[in-house]
Amino acid sequence: MNSPAHRIRHPLPPAHWPTREAAARARWFSPIRIGRQLTAAERTWVPAMVPWRATDDGFVTPEVLEWYARFAEGQPGVLVVEATGIRDVASGPLLRIGDDRFIPGLQALVETVRERSRGRTRLFIQILDFVTVRRRPEPERFFGRYLEITDSLRAQLALWLDDRHWRERSESDVREFLLGADRVTIETVLTDRELDALDYGYRERVWDVHLPHIRDLPWVLPRLFAEAARRAREAGFDGVELHYAHAYTMASFLSRLNARTDGYGGSREHRVRLPLEVLAAVRARVGDDYVVGTRYLGDEVIEGGSDLDDAIWFGVRFAAAGVDYLSVSKGGRFEDAKQPKIGEAVYPYTGTSGYECMPTVLSDARGPFGRNVPLAAAIRRAIRSAGLQTPLVTSGGITTFDQAEGILERGEADCVAAARQTLADPDWFRKIRLGYGDLVRRCEFTNYCEGLDQRHKQVTCKLWDRKFEPGDPAVRLASDGRRRLGAPSWSPPGEAGVDAPAG
Ligand SMILES: Cc1cc2nc3c(=O)[nH]c(=O)nc-3n(C[C@H](O)[C@H](O)[C@H](O)COP(=O)(O)O)c2cc1C
Ligand code: SF4
Repeated sequence: MNSPAHRIRHPLPPAHWPTREAAARARWFSPIRIGRQLTAAERTWVPAMVPWRATDDGFVTPEVLEWYARFAEGQPGVLVVEATGIRDVASGPLLRIGDDRFIPGLQALVETVRERSRGRTRLFIQILDFVTVRRRPEPERFFGRYLEITDSLRAQLALWLDDRHWRERSESDVREFLLGADRVTIETVLTDRELDALDYGYRERVWDVHLPHIRDLPWVLPRLFAEAARRAREAGFDGVELHYAHAYTMASFLSRLNARTDGYGGSREHRVRLPLEVLAAVRARVGDDYVVGTRYLGDEVIEGGSDLDDAIWFGVRFAAAGVDYLSVSKGGRFEDAKQPKIGEAVYPYTGTSGYECMPTVLSDARGPFGRNVPLAAAIRRAIRSAGLQTPLVTSGGITTFDQAEGILERGEADCVAAARQTLADPDWFRKIRLGYGDLVRRCEFTNYCEGLDQRHKQVTCKLWDRKFEPGDPAVRLASDGRRRLGAPSWSPPGEAGVDAPAG
């Protein structure tokens, strides 16, 4: 993980936990209306986290159910299921919702969360589209197979080597020469995109309109998102979250880097066009009474990318178009990601923008805690000034009750989300609400979990790992046999049924 230049190790913010009575009066534990009909019992929120537990065909597994059941036991107001693919194409162990055959598994997930949260938690599912990203190739494969030997490449070679015969040499001669060529030659004769494919792996951009399937995205995606949302509703989810954040298709349409000239790139009006069309198609498919939220970036944090001004402008458009909530994230782009090893794919959380998405305790002077709150606050102010009441969700380095309560008190957001802190201790919301805050297992913000995500390994927290006896039949282990797959269980000391189901 790349951290900003000034590396300061920040201590965790001190925590002053409220009594049960104080928690009962707290804003964080007060209800909120989301959309026309839904009320969440609390403003506590677990944002999407991919745990890499689905089958290779994208189906829900017992491990997926257990993962969400464990979060449900902590009874957050809202739990968002991981980024789930809307297409019916192989995507590794990522959940999918691109066909009706996925509905029964998702239905089981919904029932599990209802039961384990005792009806207290509202369940949304994040739905996502992404374009092709390939692993960084061996140079032999790249020059031997992937690289297209074009006339313009031959011309570059002839020019650089001052030998016009390269214009006519056989394709295999060109490939063989390039494989053995020095770096200066390679950098001179390849285009930027070819060089990028060699160094980082082939990756499509939404502005590659010479590729028919990319050109057609604006015609294909509204229906794909709408059908995925219809399946989410059929499976029983309380709402869908359109994934317009991080490195994926919809965030890339919103990006200032989107240079499409077909009315879907360039100006802000054109960049927001497809995201609004998708929202409209989803709304038409699921109806006005169903929650449709959006997660998007308050700042891309990349050179030439969209910034907070764009995000404010987009946020007001989304709110005016009737989105039911906006969850504001930051960064997580491919453009500044570190070079992957040969055979691995580029991971969008390794550069500065990735750092901003999941900041660690090794930080600059501002530190990682609540670092992204000003983005949500600025967007919220603009939306309220426009006379709209859309709830805003903030996340990023939230780890204490005081932080969350302060954010709500100052009107910086309407719901406060915590991903890694909830991974470290899925019971933490409930512990605080019941007056057991001093039992919260505090996330250390050093991103062991994110390292597992990068390798597409089953995500776990390092703080769970040592707390079981080897061979304990009650503990399910990860496929490497060395880590527990779920957080140790917890129930309030000597108290059963202390929290009655919310209506
Ligand atoms: C293991 C892991 C998986 C994640 N997967 C997703 C995802 O599927 N969709 C998403 O929008 N964000 C994802 N995130 C980002 C989190 O939702 C959150 O924005 C980020 O971790 C910052 O919040 P935190 O400081 O509370 O962890 C993931 C984070 C982690 C640690
Ligand atoms: S591994 Fe656990 S302690 Fe470390 S950052 Fe992730 S959730 Fe926090």
